[in-house]
Amino acid sequence: MPDTKSKRLKRVDLIFAEDCNYKEVLKNTLSRSRDDVIQEILDSGLRGRGGAGFPTGLKWKFTGQEESDEKFVVCNADEGEPGTFKDREILLRVPNKVFGGMAVCAYTIGAKEGYVYLRGEYEFLKDDIQKKIDEFHKVLDELGLDFRIKLLLGSGAYICGEESALFESMEGKRGEPRNKPPYPTQDGFRGKPTVINNVETLVYSLMICDLGAQKFHELGTADSRGSKVFSISGDTPIPGIYELELGMSLAEFVEEFGDGDTKAVQVGGAAGFCVPRKKFNDTIIGFEGVPTGGSMMLFNSSRSMYNVLKNYVEFFREESCGQCTPCRVGCQQLLKGIEAVKRGDQPTTYLKSLLKLTEVMKVTAKCGLGQSVANSFSSIVDNFKEEMIY
Ligand SMILES: Cc1cc2nc3c(=O)[nH]c(=O)nc-3n(C[C@H](O)[C@H](O)[C@H](O)COP(=O)(O)O)c2cc1C
Ligand code: SF4
Repeated sequence: MPDTKSKRLKRVDLIFAEDCNYKEVLKNTLSRSRDDVIQEILDSGLRGRGGAGFPTGLKWKFTGQEESDEKFVVCNADEGEPGTFKDREILLRVPNKVFGGMAVCAYTIGAKEGYVYLRGEYEFLKDDIQKKIDEFHKVLDELGLDFRIKLLLGSGAYICGEESALFESMEGKRGEPRNKPPYPTQDGFRGKPTVINNVETLVYSLMICDLGAQKFHELGTADSRGSKVFSISGDTPIPGIYELELGMSLAEFVEEFGDGDTKAVQVGGAAGFCVPRKKFNDTIIGFEGVPTGGSMMLFNSSRSMYNVLKNYVEFFREESCGQCTPCRVGCQQLLKGIEAVKRGDQPTTYLKSLLKLTEVMKVTAKCGLGQSVANSFSSIVDNFKEEMIY
């Protein structure tokens, strides 16, 4: 049981801090051995900020160990999770730190090419980011690092944020997830060893090279080191982007960002968990509790949780790539099912069958999209059953 009395909510200013001289940090980092830099990232305890939380240092180490004529670094800026808008802001405000993180990664794994895969809806940022990339290349030339970054745009599909579907899309194919293993560290873009990291992960990597692993490691908890950028939306008087230390309780979070009438928080977007008020005290925001790629949506008592759930299921049905049956048919059946219960055409007990279906999807769907439908579905149905029925 977490100690909710000890206040943990703390604002942090690492990502957007302007006092980081990225050129100096890069210069110093490139003068260290590759193993030394990877060890620094490992020691920091940094875990990927795109959602799954894989240890960043390990990903770099595994890719670095592969023998290959080509390797790649990919920055995942697809940012398709509902309620997430922090990567856009990071790319807008501190693009050099993102590219700096990519360059450090490229140096450690021995890659000469990197890609920023930008969400299709962010096309308006394209020219600006390209200009910043061109300027950054001059810095790389000054430092003597043989590395180039290219910008690619998605076309608005949520599934293309999933790493292997993203590679397919980059290769000009339909964006559909691949079978895993093999993992990208061995077989990624064009079948070559590839590190794919979220925008925020790459900036933290650079910051760790700047500040040292210890500074980062001191923040957060044993499972969730450091801080994280949150996109906060919904029923809050202060929506926006905030960098906070990991490990706070949801009660503290709501005290700071709620409107006094918060009945639930959806942590981690449509693929995440819905936490009702009665569980705020016992819920830790982090990998040991409810993880999040950054999306935090607050709902007050004026909101229908049935409508919230219906919206998520419609989203999944729309965004399922259709490749595997559990997800393609499952999403459709879940939507029909909750509508039928709400209309009174199916008894309340039918919800149990739908919950079972999400459990089947969790173990049989091919990728994280279909596997994660159960998260929001079961947490909303279990906690707000009275709102789901006729
Ligand atoms: C359906 C789906 C969508 C995803 N969308 C994103 C995304 O928009 N951005 C992102 O960084 N990771 C996304 N991911 C996670 C990526 O597959 C991958 O784990 C991540 O880019 C790795 O980076 P990290 O280790 O820095 O977190 C998504 C995963 C799934 C299953
Ligand atoms: S789980 Fe859904 S999105 Fe993933 S491969 Fe199957 S159909 Fe496509």
